[in-house]
Amino acid sequence: MQILVTAGPTREFIDPVRFLSNRSTGKMGYAIAEAAIDAGHSVTLISGPTFLQPPEHLHAFRPVVSALEMLDAVQQFLPVADALVMTAAVADFRPARRFDRKCHKGELGSTLELVPNPDILAAIRPLKEHRFFVGFAAETNDVLASAAEKLHRKGLDLIVANDVTQPGAGFETDTNIVTLLAPNATAETLPMLSKAETAQRIIARMEAEMQKR
Ligand code: CTP
Repeated sequence: MQILVTAGPTREFIDPVRFLSNRSTGKMGYAIAEAAIDAGHSVTLISGPTFLQPPEHLHAFRPVVSALEMLDAVQQFLPVADALVMTAAVADFRPARRFDRKCHKGELGSTLELVPNPDILAAIRPLKEHRFFVGFAAETNDVLASAAEKLHRKGLDLIVANDVTQPGAGFETDTNIVTLLAPNATAETLPMLSKAETAQRIIARMEAEMQKR
C-alpha cells in the first residue's frame, strides 16, 4: 500500500525569529512511518520541523513549516495514497500578519491577532473516497469522549487517543499509552509500549480494518 504520514508540529511565524507552535516532537509520526516501511508499505512522510532523522527507505520526504504548507503537501500526495495517518499536531491558529523583518517589542503590542488555520482533515474530506484515514487525539481530559467525537466529526476510520498528562504517554517521551477507536468497534487500549511498538500495533490494526472492507 501507499501510506501518507504527517508528523511533528507546525510553526506559525510572527516574524523571522518568533513563531507559535506546540510540544510535538514528531517521534510518534516518525515511528508510524518506520513501522509502515517495516510492514512492507511505500511511505511518504510530510513533516513539520523536528530534530529527528527521517527513516531510511521512505518513498518520499517532504519537510514543511506551517499548517498551510502541510495542507498543500497533503493535497499533493493524497491522490496516490491508499491511507493517510495524520499524526501531525497542526497549529489551529496563525498570526493574522507575518512581518518579514524582526519586530521590536513595541511594534508587536500586547495582543496578537490570530486567524484560524484550515482543518486539514476537514479540507481533504471530499477527496477521501476509498482511502483509510487515521487521526490522532492528544487530550488532557475526557479523552475517550473527545476522541470519539473527533472520529465522527472528522469522518475517520480510526482514531488514536492518548491522555498526554499520563506518565509515559504523550509529548517528549519514548513510550506511549493509546486507545484505538474505530466506528462500531469496542475501544482497544494498548499497554504502555515504546512508540515503535505502539506504531506497529497501529499499522497492524489499520491493515486489519482495511482487510475487513
Ligand atoms: N488536524 C488537522 N488539521 C488541523 C488540526 C488537527 O488535520 N488544523 C488533525 C490532527 O492531525 C489529528 C486530528 O485532526 O489527526 C485531531 O487533532 P486535534 O488537534 O485534536 O483536533 P482539533 O480539531 O484541533 O480539535 P480541538 O477542538 O480539540 O482543538
